[in-house]
Amino acid sequence: MAVFELAPGGRLMGRVQVPGDKSVSHRSVMLGAIAEGTTTVEGFLPGADTLNTATIFKQLGVRIERLSATALRVHGVGLEGLRAPTQPLDCGNAGTAMRLLCGLLAAQRFGCTLIGDESLSRRPMRRVLDPLAQMGANIRATAAGTAPLHVHPAPQGLRGIDYTPPVASAQVKSALLFAGLYADGPTTVREPEATRDYTEQMLRGFGAEVLTAGKVVTVQPQTAPLQAAPIIVPGDFSSAAFFLVGAAIAPGSDLIVANVGLHPRRTGLLACLLDMGADIEVLDRRWVAGNEVGDLRVRHRPLRGIAVPVERVPDMIDEFPAFLIAAAVAEGRTTVTGAAELRVKESDRLAAMAAGLRIAGVQLAERPDGIELDGQPTLDFSDAIDSHTDHRIAMAFAMAALRSVAPFRINEVDNVATSFPGFDVLAGNAGLLISQA
Ligand code: S3P
Repeated sequence: MAVFELAPGGRLMGRVQVPGDKSVSHRSVMLGAIAEGTTTVEGFLPGADTLNTATIFKQLGVRIERLSATALRVHGVGLEGLRAPTQPLDCGNAGTAMRLLCGLLAAQRFGCTLIGDESLSRRPMRRVLDPLAQMGANIRATAAGTAPLHVHPAPQGLRGIDYTPPVASAQVKSALLFAGLYADGPTTVREPEATRDYTEQMLRGFGAEVLTAGKVVTVQPQTAPLQAAPIIVPGDFSSAAFFLVGAAIAPGSDLIVANVGLHPRRTGLLACLLDMGADIEVLDRRWVAGNEVGDLRVRHRPLRGIAVPVERVPDMIDEFPAFLIAAAVAEGRTTVTGAAELRVKESDRLAAMAAGLRIAGVQLAERPDGIELDGQPTLDFSDAIDSHTDHRIAMAFAMAALRSVAPFRINEVDNVATSFPGFDVLAGNAGLLISQA
């Protein structure tokens, strides 16, 4: 297992461009596969998670050409054109792949098995399996409601349902929308809080009938073929997050993070950093192929702690590791509540962050649904950080080196490649004192 070695200090300067958005990249392959025609994808994230999704669709009989590191051509097979795989479909570390595929594969006339790595095999799947079962799907999980998942054809086909998920989850919503394409009537999802709507937007772009009214989204059964459409993937805000925090906390920093997707359901961290007093400008806000993007210029300025508004939590659900590093060096107290979902991400992120921040000397209280901590001017790592094999825990603590007074190491960082291949090189070029061993 690889480790990051960090030397204290440094600042982030210049211009960086982060890889493509993970959510959009997964969906580009899935939608391209079930459309008719050829979908070209530019800016595809060449991360382990999204490459696994491409491999899975190849196993399902879809021809996918890799035109370059970040460009794909997906030769769609139509809604009914997927074929039975001969091997289990390995989602690796990716919850998005596994949950969205449950919706799509539940509707097929063949069976298959979905597997994942150790982390994914611990994550809760009932949140998608229960509503899919209400639609008539036949998917078997372990007694704990986890993978491996055995997907069997739905004996009577799928029924449209009207469903209110107990947690705000784009993955649950998306799984039901995919299944709903194949149902016998409309499928409605009523979200407790609005979440990223890439599935809805992209389905519409491919010709599906998806209506959104506030937090209620309805998909109609898809009777006509979906039509392939070109996709340009914006830079991933969640990957930019580490650089925003790094430049915000490191004295002397002046960094531009270029071509970042600014979907309003993704940018809660930006709002929090601004509330904390950060100096961040959005330059050249523009629309690229249906996605709002911009270049973010971040200069260091001292930050102050905040109470994160609970309604903002879904809009920054993947950014809490990075956010908590900013909070750890902000002046005063930061409070996070209503974030119990963080316990069922790639790791238990509340526990992983609390453990790492304690090693850095931060005074904190971990709660079932959040954390409360008092920032301090510098961090002093007394031991190695355990990433819990979680990419975002590893990258967040890497940025903490910018305010550390001691060198330290982060263990088990291989999974950084799931979402951000080349993170250490890009961060190193910008000024982080990082090496991978
Ligand atoms: C994602 C949705 C979020 C997020 C994940 C990607 C997606 O999960 O944490 O990294 O692409 O739909 P939940 O929907 O479970 O919150």
